[in-house]
Amino acid sequence: MLEYLLTIFLGFISVLLFCVFCRRRRKDGEPPLIKGWIPFLGKALEFRKNSLQFLTQLQQEHGDIFTVLIAGRYITFIMNPLLYSSVIKHGKQLDFHTFSDSAASRTFGFPAVRSGHFPGMSDSLQRSYTLLQGPALDPLAFSVMGNLQQVLRHRFLSSEESGPDGDWKEVELYEFCKCVMFQTTFNTLYGHSSHLRLDQLREDFEKFDAIFPLLMARVPIGLLGKTKEIREKLTRFFYPHKMAEWIAPCEFIQNRMALFQQYDTLQDKDKAAHHFAMLWASVGNTIPAAFWCLYHLITCPEALAAVRAEIVNVVGEKSVQLIFKEDITITRQQLEQMVYLESSVNESLRLSSVSMNIRVVQEDFCLRLDAQNSISLRKDDIIALYPQSTHLDPEIYEQPQRFQFDRFVEDGKEKTDFYKCGQKVRYYRMPFGSGATQCPGRFFAMNELKQFVCVTLLMCEMQLLDNEQEAMLDNSRAGLGIMPPANQITFGFRTRKLQDSTAEREE
Ligand code: HEM
Repeated sequence: MLEYLLTIFLGFISVLLFCVFCRRRRKDGEPPLIKGWIPFLGKALEFRKNSLQFLTQLQQEHGDIFTVLIAGRYITFIMNPLLYSSVIKHGKQLDFHTFSDSAASRTFGFPAVRSGHFPGMSDSLQRSYTLLQGPALDPLAFSVMGNLQQVLRHRFLSSEESGPDGDWKEVELYEFCKCVMFQTTFNTLYGHSSHLRLDQLREDFEKFDAIFPLLMARVPIGLLGKTKEIREKLTRFFYPHKMAEWIAPCEFIQNRMALFQQYDTLQDKDKAAHHFAMLWASVGNTIPAAFWCLYHLITCPEALAAVRAEIVNVVGEKSVQLIFKEDITITRQQLEQMVYLESSVNESLRLSSVSMNIRVVQEDFCLRLDAQNSISLRKDDIIALYPQSTHLDPEIYEQPQRFQFDRFVEDGKEKTDFYKCGQKVRYYRMPFGSGATQCPGRFFAMNELKQFVCVTLLMCEMQLLDNEQEAMLDNSRAGLGIMPPANQITFGFRTRKLQDSTAEREE
């Protein structure tokens, strides 16, 4: 036994000494290097604790560009948005797909798409994303409208569920958003079936989602309790023979089903894992985003009144009255006319987004950032843009922590002029990533968020409870999209009375 412990101890010491003596040293032309004193982990703990604060402090000490060792990877952060362009345009030497392919395969449990076993699949998947954009958005928007109204009526506004205090009912706001957005998105993308147990699916999804940051941080799934079991359960939901029975999946999902069918090298469990991954992509960020959109409106009466008035004005008298009796439609064109709604959704995303834009360096090379700055980069290092620091930069946004619903409106149109050091900032808002790798679902997501706000504001009256505390952001998902709330917020709601709408218009 003693011999065994001694072997482990010596092994540990050798690994430690190896890490200490083989540690990287900064070469000429490379950015300042921050390694921390813990081998391998480097600055991972500080980064995880509060990444924005940590990076801002490093920026003050070392300038706009520096390299940090985080959990075994050397990550070079570019903190100045005026320098983003060259990274975003350098697609060949700074690749996104190498990273996303291996991260997705490890997290969701399917073989890497670019492993060589699936010729042409990666390009076909990229092409399928056009079915989330342009004209394909019309049927999707139509379907979202129907599903939203159905879910709200059945789950929240049915007369049996009215509370004792008049018609008012209390519910936790994040739970409300999760319930409405999960079912709406699932039904819109994957279709309907009477056998589907979506509440159970959502429960398992939430358990998996809570562990998601650790999987992305490359913690082996075997060390994460029941996560593997839960992931298998979630994957089984999407087996091809089950999906074949679902009614009216959208064209995008049908296209992916047909594509996976063409590959004998892909097992049924792998096809299912791909579908599960798309479910995660489609609700993982939209649900917390829906929370912030609604929360900011409910807590800002001026914004709520302006946005609601705009919605009522665009959808028209008839639809406002009709929604109490039957489903109404709000077209993509009508959504485009709602500039204050769009601005308040963008403002909510600005305040809650912590996506990190990642590129993997494909070869040793020197990256020119602007006339003054160039940096030497090493193959396999990571380059990261951290847009949250731009989103909260007081030079770009006055009072950056404040929700200002009309921040992105100027002369009745979208405002796109934002400045730093007297220069126009091109990348001032990046919740959906950047360049060629931007989120392919961004148009669908924006529409869905706007539709969610429209339908909720038209159908319900809402108010926060007295003494309700302020919602805080949950920082633990730094780098991974939209932050969920850290605390529970209860709100009261009831079906809007028909006369309320009329009265408001008369005011
Ligand atoms: C508010 C909602 C959403 C946010 C904030 C968001 C954000 C992002 C971000 C930051 C990326 C990585 C892009 C990059 O690093 O350059 C991404 C990728 C992706 N998103 Fe979204 N997303 C949202 C909703 C959606 C929806 C609704 C869908 C699908 C219906 C979707 C599908 C995808 C897919 C498939 C990718 C991976 C693309 C690839 O690997 O090529 N997203 N998203």
